[in-house]
Amino acid sequence: MRFIPVTFLLALLSSALIAPASAGDVNAGRARAAQCSVCHGANGISTLAEAPNLAGQSGVYLREQLRNYRSGKRNSEVMGILAKHLTDTEIDDLAAWFSAIEVEAKLPK
Ligand code: HEC
Repeated sequence: MRFIPVTFLLALLSSALIAPASAGDVNAGRARAAQCSVCHGANGISTLAEAPNLAGQSGVYLREQLRNYRSGKRNSEVMGILAKHLTDTEIDDLAAWFSAIEVEAKLPK
């Protein structure tokens, strides 16, 4: 009897966590990401030591961070200013773009 509610909960959870991550237009995000490239690189691999790589990062995580910068929940002078002007759709598009970039990790020898 306990099996059914657990399955149901998992379905609810995955639709809440996974569905929004797939939202967002990759090509619209690619165009908007031009304004991020000076620090995060044109391919999402950062060109600035203080800026993290965004390529291949989880879309769920990227959306969350951009919303947190926008609200001030996550504090960063640079990102706070930049994110303040982003709409929900623009954030979804940017998250879709950076998470769609494929990266390969190579372990040190
Ligand atoms: C002037 C340089 C600069 C520009 C331009 C810039 N960023 Fe950033 N970004 C940073 C820095 C520095 C950080 C690290 C901030 C911190 O400590 O939280 C950061 C952090 C982030 C993070 C958090 C990543 C993580 O691993 O937690 C995201 C997401 C992000 N930027 C997205 C963007 C997007 C999208 C754009 C374009 C709209 C953009 N940034 C433009 C400098 C920049």
